[in-house]
Amino acid sequence: AEPELAEHFEATLRRNDRIEPRDWMPEAYRATLVRQIAQHAHSEVIGMQPEGNWVTRAPSLRRKAVLLAKVQDEAGHGLYLYSACETLGTSRRELTEKLISGRQKYSSIFNYPTLSYADVGTIGWLVDGAAICNQVPLCRTSFGPYGRAMIRICKEESFHQRQGYELLMTMMRGTDEQRAMVQESVDRFWWPALMMFGPPDADSPNTERSMAWGIKRNTNDELRQKFVDMTVPQARALGVTLPDPELRWDEQRQAHHFGQPDWAEFKQVVSGNGPCNAQRVAHRKRAHDEGAWVREAATAFAAKQAAAAEE
Ligand code: ACO
Repeated sequence: AEPELAEHFEATLRRNDRIEPRDWMPEAYRATLVRQIAQHAHSEVIGMQPEGNWVTRAPSLRRKAVLLAKVQDEAGHGLYLYSACETLGTSRRELTEKLISGRQKYSSIFNYPTLSYADVGTIGWLVDGAAICNQVPLCRTSFGPYGRAMIRICKEESFHQRQGYELLMTMMRGTDEQRAMVQESVDRFWWPALMMFGPPDADSPNTERSMAWGIKRNTNDELRQKFVDMTVPQARALGVTLPDPELRWDEQRQAHHFGQPDWAEFKQVVSGNGPCNAQRVAHRKRAHDEGAWVREAATAFAAKQAAAAEE
């Protein structure tokens, strides 16, 4: 029956309909989804660390409450995505073990340190801004549980982006020292934010296949361009300079021309040699190890409940 099942799969994609967990799917489609969704889930969870770094030093109770809520949202995003991955037959335990043993990736961006409080705002503005650019089209991805998780995540990400922008705007209206802090932070995060979209299309081994399957809806370069076009007017409104001497409006293309990030640095960061890779994974491993007793207790409790239900 395989040809019929394959035809059903292809027809579903042609209609732009969703593939659901119980539908037949090619093993490579399943593997690609597990790879991308797991990387995405890990990014949400590892992404709690750079910002969590400032929770105890937020400058006011209000800023602290906002930051705590935001970091908790990221944990929630990780959970939706691990759940989506579980519908493909891969357990969260297995994914976590792959993450802490360095066998699965997470976004390059979270391997950069947060050196000043302005970084909290910059991450909201640029990093969550880039995440939204990348993730809004993923609401239409072909795999149902992933697309539905993305809808909720995008709503929260837009709120995160706005809180970052508002924080930076407040600092820009402050003292010269605060303005300098914002500019220094934007200088450090601009290029890593552009790298979030992945390698240039010509060096992206997965894009073509993932687009044909409707997993990705745009190429890496298309989304990078969209992000730059969206961000330039926001930078102007904020009064910060984006650290790219090549950046200019291209009248013919009706889009911004911009310089290329340092792709050698990107390769280093993705292969585990970024400024904070070892620290991020070690921290995640420690948290996982320290949580062992909670998992054991929950499992024992579930077994007891099941036994009681049988009596
Ligand atoms: N950081 C780490 N790894 C990356 C990055 C990045 N910024 N960009 C690409 N890679 C990896 C890919 O995972 C792939 O790895 P592989 O060795 O497992 O094949 C490899 O580099 C080659 O890249 P592509 O062929 O372009 O990979 P892909 O088609 O998966 O595109 C992309 C990469 C755009 C990141 C895609 O996976 C995606 O859209 N993912 C969902 C969004 C996401 O993960 N966001 C997380 C950060 S945002 C946030 O959480 C706040």
